[in-house]
Amino acid sequence: MAADQQLSVQHVLGIKYLLASDVELILDTALQFKEVINRPIKKVPSLRDTTVANLFFENSTRTRISFELAEKRLSADTVNFSAASSSVKKGETLLDTVNNILAMKVDMVVMRHPAPGAHHFLASKINASIINAGDGTHEHPTQALLDAYSMRDALGGDLRGKKVCIFGDVTHSRVALSNIFCLQKLGAHVRVCGPPTLIPKHISSLGVEVSYDVDDSLAWCDVANVLRIQLERQDTKFIPSLREYNRYFGITRERVDRLDKPVIIMHPGPINRGVEIDTSVADSEHSIILEQVENGVAVRMAVLYLLAARRKTESGGLV
Ligand code: CP
Repeated sequence: MAADQQLSVQHVLGIKYLLASDVELILDTALQFKEVINRPIKKVPSLRDTTVANLFFENSTRTRISFELAEKRLSADTVNFSAASSSVKKGETLLDTVNNILAMKVDMVVMRHPAPGAHHFLASKINASIINAGDGTHEHPTQALLDAYSMRDALGGDLRGKKVCIFGDVTHSRVALSNIFCLQKLGAHVRVCGPPTLIPKHISSLGVEVSYDVDDSLAWCDVANVLRIQLERQDTKFIPSLREYNRYFGITRERVDRLDKPVIIMHPGPINRGVEIDTSVADSEHSIILEQVENGVAVRMAVLYLLAARRKTESGGLV
């Protein structure tokens, strides 16, 4: 595949820093890669001259495997690093860790890190392209891109005027912020809904509606993107109990059955079944949760491919 258009950025640090045309380009390129991975031979040689390091300083199942598969489908060489089993445990700094890995001729870095801003720091210090695979409670740009891709796929290709409600723990979620930026760039209306203790006070300044009424929000939206309660990021108690959370703010079977129209159900995973969403809703005919995971590979192929193409152009094809 040849990239006729280019991204405006050298790194994907967050959706906030992408133009609407970058988002459109990534989603359109992902559409082509989706065709590739549906073929019997799911590989193209586009990145055979590229080495990618996947650096995970936090746990991951979907994002990590999805990036690794995307790199392999593009014929890149990949190395995987998990902080838990590395010399980070001996006190090595982030910059020393990354510089040592780059010394082994790595071109691109995919990184998940608990510190918001870790990617920006690295981008100012190193030469490789960086893709943010989640930084603390800040952004998770490729999740938002695969979410937007999946919504477009389910809603006929255009999100302009569509209503998306993000339900749950917005305060501690990196997916929420990336989703808001991404959906607004694509012309969708965005609402957030959850308990007041889990919705940041400043969120309305981003141009999103705020609601604390789950039934009203379900009736309002075309798509319900349901977030997990991030208990691991909460140092105080934001909800009385998980059972009460399900009762008052969960996307339950009873609530969905009361609707007079279908709502597309999404969740970035991992799911706390019976807490933020009932199993019968998560597994229902209107759920596209596994399609999100499937689409993640094509979307990440598009991001890797477009960043590599830009890198090659900037260096006169010598990378
Ligand atoms: N959606 C997501 O980021 O899942 P993982 O934490 O398993 O990567």
